[in-house]
Amino acid sequence: MPDNETTAPSLENLLHETRAFPPGPAFAAQANAQPSLYEEAAADRLGFWAAQARELVTWSTPFTQTLDWSDAPVARWFADGKLNAAYNAVDRHVEAGLGDRVALHFEGEPGDTRAVTYADLQREVSRAANALTALGVTTGDRVVVYLPMLVESVVAMLACARIGAPHSVVFGGFSADALRSRIADAEAKLVITADGGYRRGAPSALKPAVDEALAPKDGQPATTVEHVLVVRRTGQEVDWTEGRDVWWHDAVEHADAFHEPVQVDAEHPLFILYTSGTTGKPKGILHTTGGYLTQAAYTHKFVFDLKAESDVYWCTADIGWVTGHSYVVYGPLTNGATQVIYEGTPDTPHRGRWWELVEKYQVSILYTAPTAIRTCMKWGEDIPAGFDLSSLRVLGSVGEPINPEAWMWYRRVIGGDTAPIVDTWWQTETGGIMISPLPGVTATKPGSAQVALPGIVADVVDDEAHSVPDGGGGYLVLSEPWPAMLRGIWGDLQRFKDTYWSRFEGLYFAGDGAKKDEDGDIWLLGRVDDVMNVSGHRLSTTEIESALVSHEVVAEAAVVGAADETTGQAVVAFVILRGEHADRASTPEGAQEVQAELRNHVAKEIGPIAKPRRILVVPELPKTRSGKIMRRLLRDVAENRTVGDATTLADSSVMDLISAGLASTK
Ligand code: WTA
Repeated sequence: MPDNETTAPSLENLLHETRAFPPGPAFAAQANAQPSLYEEAAADRLGFWAAQARELVTWSTPFTQTLDWSDAPVARWFADGKLNAAYNAVDRHVEAGLGDRVALHFEGEPGDTRAVTYADLQREVSRAANALTALGVTTGDRVVVYLPMLVESVVAMLACARIGAPHSVVFGGFSADALRSRIADAEAKLVITADGGYRRGAPSALKPAVDEALAPKDGQPATTVEHVLVVRRTGQEVDWTEGRDVWWHDAVEHADAFHEPVQVDAEHPLFILYTSGTTGKPKGILHTTGGYLTQAAYTHKFVFDLKAESDVYWCTADIGWVTGHSYVVYGPLTNGATQVIYEGTPDTPHRGRWWELVEKYQVSILYTAPTAIRTCMKWGEDIPAGFDLSSLRVLGSVGEPINPEAWMWYRRVIGGDTAPIVDTWWQTETGGIMISPLPGVTATKPGSAQVALPGIVADVVDDEAHSVPDGGGGYLVLSEPWPAMLRGIWGDLQRFKDTYWSRFEGLYFAGDGAKKDEDGDIWLLGRVDDVMNVSGHRLSTTEIESALVSHEVVAEAAVVGAADETTGQAVVAFVILRGEHADRASTPEGAQEVQAELRNHVAKEIGPIAKPRRILVVPELPKTRSGKIMRRLLRDVAENRTVGDATTLADSSVMDLISAGLASTK
């Protein structure tokens, strides 16, 4: 394994955590999940999944095969069935007489609102599908979506699904360069964007990044993009490329409101979503239609105890992340839920904005990230106390391990000491939730994701792939294929096999460290590879290092994720300057200037979320004799700890040099 072993700042605390909260009898009595669900799935796992697929999803051609694992690790689920994801998410609810149910309560950051019913959504998605077709997009073509959180974002994704054109959503916070490489890798035919969106009280432009991403660069071949569809949100000025750019309102609002959904094979690609890996190049995670939709709907129904006719659900994730795909778009809509989507930041115009929205829409299920909870803790509990949160009955957490303190605060302050918390472990690659308590069934423990869902088989293994006993620690693996599993990395089958399937024979290696407690419950301990988790967002150390070295003053760079109270981890970079620039950092002002330049450079190369919190200019980096950077030691420095065992360093004086160098630039 890499030498930067598990980052588990609160491991000591976790081992002493013994609190447990059994489900209340009233909740248990009405819960969607019953203990028998585990037994059913264990008795006949594939039969269980087939039953979920038949019950929760509508098929235009019913499937007869459940799993084909003959081409492992590429799975085929429900492969001889046909369906359409947008039809499942929208039309069938209208056909069932639920057209007047609100699908989306949109709240813009400036306070503008829009309630979109399932019937409205059917018309909008159909129009958009017709507009995409008119722009030459057909089944199989890739469409990049680069939008803020708007109704149009959900419509755009569903319109793609409706015509069988896989979408690839790129988070609006990513830079033009990041967008360019994703467009190129996916060979997208169309980009859907907006003039801008509202963030922190001001319009924030998006279109210029698309223009830049599509401009010729370094003699690179012309882009595959034929058109850019632009939503007008902020009304800000945009540059316009005639013949290429088309306003959404021109193309969509005048299109026919009827569209026949294209029924695709269960294994037809639904989307590609890029995520950071251990190398500099992001991976295009490929998901297909039938299995993905089944697991999204199944998990959404049981993990959140959704009662579609009465609940108001709100997942605060952006559609740019997988959580926005599975738990804003596909899961909730397939289940016919009513949900809130919010464009902006939690502190605009005031720090109670989220709680105001919970009160206003009577939100009953809230799904958010530990980093947001910790931020609210920091702001103080008198802020949520100013709002009526009594409608909340289930609380979810995702993105990183939630520390017991934040869990307890979430339960007490937001959940009124009664709402069960579901700490859900999963990944872009898994497509849907894998490990989580089931509300009404599981006695929850603060800080633990606990148990694999019915139908999922997870384990913690040691270096030799042996299952560890209760009380032991090791690596989290998934031992059986699951319906929403990734079907590969776009265009790179070998990388798919190497990344996930080569560490342990026949097991999917998730990249996370974990332990089992005495009850056999699973506690996640963070990544064991070169992937950081900053505010629940995955960032690659290697990708940030390459960005830094691409700057002219940098000779070498090493990046680590240092424990941070609010964001989980923070990016800390160690850089060696090139000889001719080395002097620039010799004065405090000079060093500050270099640091600012480099932080902006990373923001430009990747996006503001990847900006290092701290950049330390050092004379050397600690390396093993084989030349591998020992990030563990750098993490000690970044976290202000005594530097650990440095005996495997090629040159053991390096750490002294680094410490001395840091002292002189302080
Ligand atoms: C981490 C987000 C502990 C984990 C859905 C995983 C978690 C990575 C949890 C995937 C959790 C996510 N407890 N760790 N409940 N949820 N993670 O692809 O390290 O953005 O491998 O998917 O986030 O991040 P991704």
